[in-house]
Amino acid sequence: MGRFYVVLCLAPWFLMMVSVSGIGANWGTQASHPLSPSIVVQMLRDNGIQKVKLFDAEDATLTMLKKTNIEVMVGIPNELLQSLATSMKAAENWVAKNVSGYVSDGVNIRYVAVGNEPFLSSFNGTFLQSTFPALQNIQSALIKSGLGNQVKVTCPLNADVYESPSGKPSDGDFRSDIRPLMLTIVKFLSDNAAPFTVNIYPFISLYSDPSFPVDYAFFDGTSSPVTDNSATYTNMFDANHDTLVWALKKNGFDNLPIIIGEIGWPTDGDMNANIEYAQKFNQGFLKHILAGQGTPMRTGPINAYLFSLIDEDQKSIQPGNFERHWGLFYYDGQPKYQLSLGTTNTGLVRAKGVQYLDKKWCVMKNSVNLDDPKVAPSVSYACANADCTSLGYKTSCGGLDARGNISYAFNSYYQMNDQDNQACGFNNLATVTNKDPSMGICRFEIEILVEDSAASLRASAMLAVVWFLLMFM
Ligand SMILES: *[C@@H]1O[C@H](CO)[C@@H](O)[C@H](O)[C@H]1NC(C)=O
Ligand SMILES: *[C@@H]1O[C@H](CO)[C@@H](O)[C@H](O)[C@H]1NC(C)=O
Ligand SMILES: *[C@@H]1O[C@H](CO)[C@@H](O)[C@H](O)[C@H]1NC(C)=O
Repeated sequence: MGRFYVVLCLAPWFLMMVSVSGIGANWGTQASHPLSPSIVVQMLRDNGIQKVKLFDAEDATLTMLKKTNIEVMVGIPNELLQSLATSMKAAENWVAKNVSGYVSDGVNIRYVAVGNEPFLSSFNGTFLQSTFPALQNIQSALIKSGLGNQVKVTCPLNADVYESPSGKPSDGDFRSDIRPLMLTIVKFLSDNAAPFTVNIYPFISLYSDPSFPVDYAFFDGTSSPVTDNSATYTNMFDANHDTLVWALKKNGFDNLPIIIGEIGWPTDGDMNANIEYAQKFNQGFLKHILAGQGTPMRTGPINAYLFSLIDEDQKSIQPGNFERHWGLFYYDGQPKYQLSLGTTNTGLVRAKGVQYLDKKWCVMKNSVNLDDPKVAPSVSYACANADCTSLGYKTSCGGLDARGNISYAFNSYYQMNDQDNQACGFNNLATVTNKDPSMGICRFEIEILVEDSAASLRASAMLAVVWFLLMFM
């Protein structure tokens, strides 16, 4: 009995040690059929993932994280920055509602991410004015609520906030157009013992520059390493990370802690987005950080959050079709490939208790002609409202023929609308089948049952309106 008691006392300490060194994961929820927070939290625990980074502060999610000891970074969406920047009261309310209450209920909130990559050039400067004042106001609100030491602010930024004209890390500095602002933010983080959070994506480098050396994106060595003074870089992650270290060092912030807010590799939607590369990248990265040696410019453990946990089929595809395929797990919590997170003895553990819709799919009718003029607008409509990002050159369903393509689009729309009969209408071009049309690696999905049926009710109501309009147009 006495011994048992000792073990119980030690357990929390043991868990805390694990949580400091373990790998984290980003948990985004831009999905038409998100897994319920209770399923996802169980998945996190089964996989030994001790840290999560969220993009907002949803009550259902935070409630499930109570007393799990999982370390949480809550997020403030960019759309809220303006109001938090201009109103101290708004910042206090945000902290009271979305941090203090949960902390007292036993949610292990450690960071508040103020904004998400607010200085991306594609935002055209929209958040340049509001980010820093919002950061200040949230920090003041945290101090006022007595959480100043326990909960740290940070601002996840894309790696394009710094650059190196020569490509050598030692020539790194903050991007010239935002350098004064970056220095203000960095000083503020430093003054408040808060970390710098950066998202690093070798995949994007490869995607946007066809001449980027493929092997440099991974961790297995490269035929053309980058030599920088006494350091040799054989992978882009280290070089990019150290460009930031140099940028900080040059401006007097040698020791500012760095968090890798997002890192990962997508599995579909582009010729370089596939299972093989994603497995290679993520396992290579994990092995690299689990070795604990850090990078040439900064030795020691690396604090990182994989991007991401689960695929999100509602993410904007403006950056590319791969955006909806970053998950280690598919939309339904099935692992995509074997990966050792270094936390369990097994590979990835699938989600438990997931319920699916019926085993049926929507496909193009055999009797319909490919050149029927109603086909093209129907496919466009389906793809615009559902998800066709697995169709295209060298993607998982890139090998389908024309009929397969059309069926894929129809089915995606049908599943997205919870297999509503009306969603398999398409001007009489489509029909429901019990025979799985999946072929090879191309999966015709069946959606999952979402506990919150309000969302699906809303969807069917909208659908009814849409078909009504189409019929009378
Ligand atoms: C708390 O966070 C949620 C989710 O991000 C947001 O909708 C809400 O406005 C926040 N509450 C306050 C008081 O700002
Ligand atoms: C930024 O500007 C471009 C070109 O003017 C425009 O297409 C895009 O929608 C703008 N983005 C935002 C977030 O305002
Ligand atoms: C299937 O659809 C994709 C994406 O719309 C297109 O690129 C491809 O050419 C289509 N394939 C056939 C055989 O029609």
